[in-house]
Amino acid sequence: MVRHFLRDDDLSPDDQREVLTLAKALKGAPLAQRPLEGLSVATIFEKNSTRTRLSFEVGIQQLGGQPIVVDGRTMQLGREETIEDTSRVLSRYVDMVAWRTYAQKRIEAMAAGASVPVINALSDEFHPCQVLADLQTIEERHGKLAGLTATYLGDGANNMSHSMLLGGATAGMHVRVVAPEGFLPLSEVVLDAKRRAAETGGSVTLLTDPHAAVDGSDVLVTDTWTSMGQENDGKDRVTPFRKLQINTGLLERAAPGAIVLHCLPAHRGWEITDEVIDGPASAVWDEAENRLHAQKALMAWLVANR
Ligand code: CP
Ligand code: NVA
Repeated sequence: MVRHFLRDDDLSPDDQREVLTLAKALKGAPLAQRPLEGLSVATIFEKNSTRTRLSFEVGIQQLGGQPIVVDGRTMQLGREETIEDTSRVLSRYVDMVAWRTYAQKRIEAMAAGASVPVINALSDEFHPCQVLADLQTIEERHGKLAGLTATYLGDGANNMSHSMLLGGATAGMHVRVVAPEGFLPLSEVVLDAKRRAAETGGSVTLLTDPHAAVDGSDVLVTDTWTSMGQENDGKDRVTPFRKLQINTGLLERAAPGAIVLHCLPAHRGWEITDEVIDGPASAVWDEAENRLHAQKALMAWLVANR
């Protein structure tokens, strides 16, 4: 059976551990073997990207594979061909597909028609590759994942919030989400994260007061208040979010040694201040680097588990 990585809980806790262990090994000393030797990977983008696009392309090459980077907006997919038909065709040419798209159901349709692994390179609902890199970064800085508290502040209904919930719970972390009313995570994702947390000893908590949420947190995570595709959704994406900004005052309330993550691109002065993102608690540049290592590990793992 082909394994896909469409959302964070597509990896079991054991699977996630294997991928993170491999990511650490790949960062330290590149594998002698080239697990993608002779294989081609299509990476398709319907939204802008700097990190995901570059880290996949470099990572595929470093693993011995051939990356094919496509602007999805120029494909027949954007015109009149169905996702399922596209998926069948892609499976005849390439050995893996990574896709950045809009609704999660689009990437589910791609996986349903594919006979090769499909990776979610960001959808409206999930950004699981990012959270793999985030977990790698947290483990580097804190030496462990299980039992740590991570607090996500921002749009609770966006891809980063949902992926932190599922990925953090899979790692046995205590995940808190603090979001304004009207921007809460999807209830089915919260339920799935709670189920996963019950298996791993983690927990999931939704809060509205940022001070209480940050209290005792080992990791603070934020993201843009306006995700790609939401620019004209008619919602006030500033006023209710202002109190969630990660600034020095808020950071001081976190646990000693707390780190700050942001998937980037950052909107300095909005969800995070210059002082924090450029300060000693910030792990964002390692986090960005780890996209490369975590995705290489994921691709090697998916190939090995085909
Ligand atoms: N964090 C992230 O996914 O960045 P890009 O949008 O630049 O790929
Ligand atoms: N939530 C952001 C993440 C960007 C990497 C977005 O979807 O635009």
